Formats: sequence, C-alpha cells, structure tokens
Amino acid sequence: MSKRVLTTESGAPVADNQNSASAGVGGPLLIQDQQLLEKLARFNRERIPERVVHARGSGAYGHFEVTDDVTGFTHADFLSEIGKRTEVFLRFSTVADSLGGADAVRDPRGFALKFYTEEGNYDLVGNNTPVFFIKDPIKFPDFIHSQKRDPFTGKQEPDNVWDFWAHSPEATHQVTWLMGDRGIPASYRHMDGFGSHTYQWTNAKGEAFFVKYHFKTNQGIRTLTADQAAELAGKDPNSHQTDLLQAIERGVYPSWTLYVQLMPAAETANYRFNPFDLTKVWPHGDYPLRRVGRLVLDRNPDNVFAEVEQAAFSPNNFVPGIGPSPDKMLQGRLFAYADAHRYRLGVNHTLLPVNSPKAVEGGARNYGRDGFMALNAQGRDAKNYEPNSYDGPAETGRPLSAPLAVSGHTGNHEAPLHTKDDDFVQAGELYRLMSQDERSRLIANIAGGLSQVSRNDVVEKNLAHFHAADPEYGRRVEAAVRALRED
Ligand code: HEM
Repeated sequence: MSKRVLTTESGAPVADNQNSASAGVGGPLLIQDQQLLEKLARFNRERIPERVVHARGSGAYGHFEVTDDVTGFTHADFLSEIGKRTEVFLRFSTVADSLGGADAVRDPRGFALKFYTEEGNYDLVGNNTPVFFIKDPIKFPDFIHSQKRDPFTGKQEPDNVWDFWAHSPEATHQVTWLMGDRGIPASYRHMDGFGSHTYQWTNAKGEAFFVKYHFKTNQGIRTLTADQAAELAGKDPNSHQTDLLQAIERGVYPSWTLYVQLMPAAETANYRFNPFDLTKVWPHGDYPLRRVGRLVLDRNPDNVFAEVEQAAFSPNNFVPGIGPSPDKMLQGRLFAYADAHRYRLGVNHTLLPVNSPKAVEGGARNYGRDGFMALNAQGRDAKNYEPNSYDGPAETGRPLSAPLAVSGHTGNHEAPLHTKDDDFVQAGELYRLMSQDERSRLIANIAGGLSQVSRNDVVEKNLAHFHAADPEYGRRVEAAVRALRED
C-alpha cells in the first residue's frame, strides 16, 4: 500500500522524519531543517492553560428529546413540542484537582450541558449536587484557593479546606452532601445532574416562572466508599473516562430524565426559603418534580483536545424563554465563564466547532470581528458596524426573558433571609434523611478529614456547625473526631 506523503505545516513534502539534518555526519544540527524546528516549536505549544476549576473532564455528544408539554412555562423553541430533538454536548468533570489528578475522588462532579438549539446555544452549567458551598460569588476565589493545592506545600491541605468551611457556616449543607455516600460517584453515568441555581422561564404571554433543573440518571445511582475509591484511583486514575468512553463505544448509551421544579414569580417573595439561595433546595413537597424530557449520550468525541479540552460553557448563554434569576452566585458566573474562555482559549473560541451555534441557520451573525485565530470571513462588503443602512443583521427588540423585579439601595448586602432560612436547617434535614449506615459512613468521612486539622479552634468552629444542624449529628462527629485526635 503506498502511503500519502508526510508534509510540513506549509504542505511541503518531508524527506526524513527520523534523522535531523546535520553539518557532516557527526556534526551540529542545521537551522535550515524546517521539519525539526517546526516539530520542536509546535510541541512546546501543545498545552493551553487548564481550567482553573473543573480541569479534569470527559465529554460526549447526544440529544435531548422533549417528552412532556412545558409550553405553559417557557417559549424556548427547543422545548416547544413533544418529540422535538436537540443535539447536545455534555462535559463531566471533577472540580478541585488539576489535570493530572484521579477521577475516583470525593469531590462534586461538573455536569455542563450545551444544547445546540436553532435559537442559539443554551448552556446549562451545573453539578451533580443540588446546592453549593457558598452563596456569594465574591467568596469563590477564596473558596477554591482553600480547596486546591496549597501554593507552599503543593498539595491539598485539610487545614485550608476546613478553615474555609469554619468561616462559612452556609457550606454545612453541601459539606454534608459531599461527605455522604453520593460524594464519590462510581462513574459519570451513575449520578444525577442539577442546574443547581434557580433560573427563570418566561412563557409566550410574558409570564415568569422560576425553575430548578434535575437530571435523574436512568442507570441508577452508584457510589464508591472512601476505601474503594482510593484503590480505584490508584489502579485507574481515568476510571470515569474509561467507563464513559467504553459504554458509548459498546452502544450502551447513558441517559437521564429531566425534571423541573417550577415556582410562579409571585410566590418567590413569601416562600419560606430564599428561592435564590444556592445553599438551599426547594423541598419536593413544596414544588414537585415535573418531567420534561430525556437526555441521551451516544457519540464519543473524535478528539479529546479539540472537543473536550476546548469546550467552553457559559451560564450566560441563554435562549429566548430562559434567563437568569437574581441568585447572586449565578450573577457572578454570568461574567466569570466567558472571561475565562477569552483567557484560556481566546476571543474566537466560539468559532471552534464544539462551541459554535451550529443549529442556528447561517451560524452566529454579529459585528464582532478579528482577533487571534479569526476564521469568520464575513463577505467582502459586509459592514462591521451597526446600525447600518445595508442588509446587516439587526436587533429584535424582544428581550429573551422577563425583567427581574428590584427594590432598595445599592450596597454590599447579604442575601435576604426568609422565614425558615438559616445556614443549618437543610443540612439537618439531609442528615435525618440518611439511613443509620449512611450516617455512620458520613461521620467517618468527616472525622477522617477534620481530625487532620492542626488548630483546635478551626476544629471547634466546624463542630459547632454540625451541632447546629442536628444534635445527634454534632455529637457523633465530635466523638469521632476526638477519638481520632487522641490516637
Ligand atoms: C461564583 C461562583 C463560580 C465561579 C466564579 C465559577 C467559575 C468557573 C470558572 C472560571 C470555570 C472554568 C471555565 C473554563 O475555563 O472553561 C468554571 C468551570 C465550571 N464550573 Fe464554575 N464557578 C462558580 C460556581 C459554580 C457552580 C455553583 C457550579 C455548579 C452549579 C459550577 C459548575 C462549573 C462546571 C460544571 C465547570 C466546568 C465546565 C466545563 O466542563 O467546561 N461552577 N467555573
């Protein structure tokens, strides 16, 4: 079989790809060896900055199919008809560790979904947890610093992890979740996904609803104990990647059923919990789950770097009928992601195939131009300013979603507390929902970490949070920590 000719990047044939050109047989190398120079220079540039969080991830394509009518709540076109299918790309991830970490670790998992809709890409960038550690984005960089590798020791430090939580009582709910059985999913297929934040849906009449998304795994929930995970992480650091890749290659396509909780806008002011507080759930008894559709993953990416590493999701990518809520964390994220992409991937990241709005007829149409890696030749006489007197694209005058109500004065305010809001009530409820066995594993997991903390005051502050959540919970964690510290 005759092979095609190897070429340089400019397309010239390569004569020798095994021996560098030298001055004489044993002499120094020649700068005229284009193949050598190009290979070494390109190799030096093979890595881009990893994501500052959620660095390790796996992705797959698939589709979302509507199974139930939700047109009374949103006029989003991709949700407009039972049976309507939309292509999606989903990237799963761990959060805290760097690219070289392991999959089987105790950590939230990212669940970042891109719907390629005909009205633009809709990104729902969630986690496998319904809540989060903090409720104000100004705390996010400090939170992440405390959970990632310490700049001096170069490793994750229990002192930092628990010191941050000692100062963040609002984290108690999510800490309880993370230290429980679901804190280490067996694989990406065996966990649920959540939008986590409250978002806004608007229907065709302009009526606003607030919505929480729940993707329930159809594979069933499977988790690993701390010991099982430690063993697996050592044997196969890429265990989640292996599982997802192989399942899809075998034709065993993972799927999730999407449910939503919906709250009419008029009910937000008097709900017992602040509905825009990311550290809280809406109990299903208050707002039941309502089925919307089915998400299926059925195609592996051809190239992990091009499609998974370079995937860019932004919570600010909405489509008509869907918008933000006043959740402060969400508001912070509306800025942070596209800013991260401009740094990590460059201003033209939306031109990459995985990120481009491929279902929009004719692609994106706007007056943004140029910059590094510009590919979007816009036609010879297309104007690059707007408004113009020519036939360039024009605004619709129709906002994507309903306006949000505001009142009061500017200031650095804490999130408003509703009648049942405190930092501990839902952590206690979660603890009491657990079986006795689950509680025992939770206590052991917390004590295993907290007992390694060097300062007593940090331990005591954390113990106070568990006591406040539930007296039994507090007593048991305290006894387990003391027993380990006295060893
Ligand atoms: C104010 C709070 C937050 C900030 C400032 C923030 C910021 C970031 C940044 C800068 C990235 C890296 C993006 C990239 O380089 O591609 C990221 C990734 C991610 N974040 Fe957040 N984040 C916040 C909270 C959250 C929350 C609450 C969730 C889940 C509910 C979440 C889920 C994710 C996911 C899933 C990814 C990975 C996306 C991907 O697969 O590419 N983040 N975040």
